[in-house]
Amino acid sequence: MHIIESRACFGQGMIQGEKVSSYQKYLKEMEGAFRSSQGTDSETLLYTTYSYEAGEAGKAGDLYFGMTVLEPVTVNGECCMTRGHFHLKRNCAEFYFGISGSGLLLLMNEQGRTWAERVEAGSVHYIDGKLAHRLVNTGNGQLKVGACWPADAGHDYDAIEKRAFGYRIFKNKEEITWEENGENGISDIPK
Ligand SMILES: [Fe+2]
Repeated sequence: MHIIESRACFGQGMIQGEKVSSYQKYLKEMEGAFRSSQGTDSETLLYTTYSYEAGEAGKAGDLYFGMTVLEPVTVNGECCMTRGHFHLKRNCAEFYFGISGSGLLLLMNEQGRTWAERVEAGSVHYIDGKLAHRLVNTGNGQLKVGACWPADAGHDYDAIEKRAFGYRIFKNKEEITWEENGENGISDIPK
């Protein structure tokens, strides 16, 4: 039997290997997402996303694998977060899993109802394809979260622009608080 090495691996908090790409998101690209970015350096790094796309791009039935590393920074007290998205194909679900750090996974349905799941090392999160999802780092160190999603899911950022997540998450020293965001803040998990 011929044994070969794996084509990608986690290494020192990142994914390395062939067909792994990454990008870094800075505050200057997401200023509108925060309540106020005044006084915070627009070059502040918010998060890095790694994506392992081994198969044919966008092929139905194929899977992508990734990891997002959120920095422990705040923007006028608001916790570091990802841009967040729906999937273009609302029937495409996704798994997230906590690797290290602590945070929240904000989930929002298409009516704007928003709630959160706690993310920590070892937590596993099934994200229904109809739900928007955003990660928030509430801890004192980096939040690292793995993901696996259908290659043809696509990203719908426009829907988030039109209807923002219902809550904003803030950190004051060690205390985590949240505030309703516009008209969408509805705390109940939908029936
Ligand atoms: Fe997703």
